[in-house]
Amino acid sequence: MRKIYIAGNWKMNLTFQAADDFFFQLAEYLQDTDAGNTQALICPPYTYMELGTDTADKSSLAIGAQNVSQHDNGAYSGEISADILSSMDVEYCLVGHSERRQFFLESNTLLNHKIQKLREFFIKPILCVGESLSEREAGKAFEIVQSQLDKCLENVKIDNDLLLAYEPVWAIGTGKTASPQQAQEVHNMIRTWIADKYGKQIAIELPILYGGSVKPANLAELLAQPDIDGGLIGGAALNIESYIEMLKIAQKI
Ligand code: PGA
Repeated sequence: MRKIYIAGNWKMNLTFQAADDFFFQLAEYLQDTDAGNTQALICPPYTYMELGTDTADKSSLAIGAQNVSQHDNGAYSGEISADILSSMDVEYCLVGHSERRQFFLESNTLLNHKIQKLREFFIKPILCVGESLSEREAGKAFEIVQSQLDKCLENVKIDNDLLLAYEPVWAIGTGKTASPQQAQEVHNMIRTWIADKYGKQIAIELPILYGGSVKPANLAELLAQPDIDGGLIGGAALNIESYIEMLKIAQKI
């Protein structure tokens, strides 16, 4: 049975104090709860990573980074390496979030290098894919997602230490969620594509998260879809009450 991930992507938000309070309250909740099949995961800014991994040490929380350099180390001011992340017990890392693609012009080829680097250091990549509004309206959603997968995963070892996140760009931070049916349609296409390319067993085990305006009010119906294995959540994961509410919804499934 695949786990259900409630993955918070904090992006460039929260102060140190707010992050500390969040982790403190989350640790209290997780210590008193049977996580069951649900994996709580937070991707904070780098500077709060240690607060997160301290919490992860005493609870079932996992910590992820939001980005990584494709380089090993050296003179790359402002960047962070897979080696550094791994030395801080960071377990997951987002790759190819649409904001990285859009604002930092990250190409599929670059993302492929980043995934390879993460795999070298045993950090689990969460590869984000998704179409823009104009691509969806032109009927190209499947084609775009398949081409992102194809290029980003070239020569990458595929197993259940790799996660995918379908995030339609038009649904991120806009309040517009893909309907559960729209999301399921793409998730199913992705799983079928993986099965054809890498085999049925890998496709059955591979977690595919949905992201784009996920919140407590729409999480249950998204998770009810057979190919949706959790949420990659921005805005609604910045608030501890709403994040815990989403954990509770997932734990009931
Ligand atoms: P959102 O962000 O939940 O605020 O739409 C999701 C994401 O960007 O991963």
